[in-house]
Amino acid sequence: METMKILPGGRLRGEAMVPGDKSISHRAVMLGSIADGVSRVSGFLTGEDSVNTARAFASMGVRIEGMGGTELTVHGVGLDGLKPPSGVLDLGNSGTSIRLMSGLMAGQRFGVLMTGDEYLVKRPMARIVRPLTMMGANISGDGDRQLPPLTVVPAAGGLKGINYESPIASAQVKSAILLAGLYADGVTSVTEPMKSRDHTERMLRYMGVDVKEQGLTVSVEGGKRLSPRNFFVPADISSAAFLMVAAAIVPGSNVTIKDVGINPTRTGIIDILRRMNASIDMINIRSDGPEPVADIVVEYSDLRGIEIGGELFLRAIDEFPIICIAAAAAKGVTVVKDAAELRVKESDRIAAMASELMKVGVSVTETPDGMIIEGGRPLIPAEVDSHGDHRVAMSMAVAGLAASADGGPMVINDTACINTSFPGFYGLLELLRG
Ligand code: S3P
Repeated sequence: METMKILPGGRLRGEAMVPGDKSISHRAVMLGSIADGVSRVSGFLTGEDSVNTARAFASMGVRIEGMGGTELTVHGVGLDGLKPPSGVLDLGNSGTSIRLMSGLMAGQRFGVLMTGDEYLVKRPMARIVRPLTMMGANISGDGDRQLPPLTVVPAAGGLKGINYESPIASAQVKSAILLAGLYADGVTSVTEPMKSRDHTERMLRYMGVDVKEQGLTVSVEGGKRLSPRNFFVPADISSAAFLMVAAAIVPGSNVTIKDVGINPTRTGIIDILRRMNASIDMINIRSDGPEPVADIVVEYSDLRGIEIGGELFLRAIDEFPIICIAAAAAKGVTVVKDAAELRVKESDRIAAMASELMKVGVSVTETPDGMIIEGGRPLIPAEVDSHGDHRVAMSMAVAGLAASADGGPMVINDTACINTSFPGFYGLLELLRG
């Protein structure tokens, strides 16, 4: 079991490059694989999650050059060119891989078995099994929650388009349905209660597919071919978030994070930190392909507690663990609500963060759909646990940076999971501390 030790103190200064966006990396490989020709992907995330997606497509006959690196060449085989894999598709820790691929696999003429690690096999797949079954797919997992492994058998009569009212705002659900929709007869549409991240829609449009959007409804027509493209994957704002909060709460810090994706469905963390009185600027705002990009400059300032819920929370859904650390360092009370989805992420992030924050002396109250944090007290270095969750591990490391200097190091157990999304995290922190 890997352990990370963080000594408190030491301001963070300088320029940082963080790894490529996880959501966009997955989609670039998936959509590149079913495009009609060669796509180049630069800035691909070399973390385990996105590499598992690439391996899965390679095992279905897609030639991918540069595997293991950040520059990939994906030789797309067209909508119907995937081949049956030789074995089970093991998607590791990646919920995005298994859910999006369920949609794609539902439209194939061969069957697959998809599974993952000890955490993934506890995550509910009913949310995608239900709508895909309505489309005519043959997909099933275990029990009512449809836990992985998931078995997909070719749909006897093919897939048909549906109009699906999704009970949850989830990009994974929306994307699974839209990807199945590429293989369905007629039009497939998804309506969400709030707008989740829209990387799939943007990328499909960039590849020439007409994705219609009306209010909270998006739709695609089946049978449309995808044109290969060159993709530039921006730095992941969800990884940048750890450095943003670190710089905002460690006195004397000033950090610039380069080439960060600032898709408005993802920038909740910037809005939240600004409301907490952080000093954050976006400079060099530009667009490279379908996604907007900027450099983000963060300076230390005194933070204050705020209330976070609704759409603001959804736009920062993966940032809850690190928001907890900002809240612990801020003066006053922070309330997070409307966040029940966090209980079915890589870990139950509400329970995980409540237990680890308490170990470092933070006063927290867990609620069914969020947390109340009383901030402003010194953080006490302690031995804490990642719960096998990369974002919990990195958040506790940032807490270590801001902890009281006289209490020894923060010791974080079980940190190998950081490699799912942010290889090089520790080295980058050390580099910025000079
Ligand atoms: C993701 C969507 C989000 C997010 C996850 C990645 C994606 O999940 O939490 O880390 O790439 O589509 P939901 O939209 O299902 O909540």
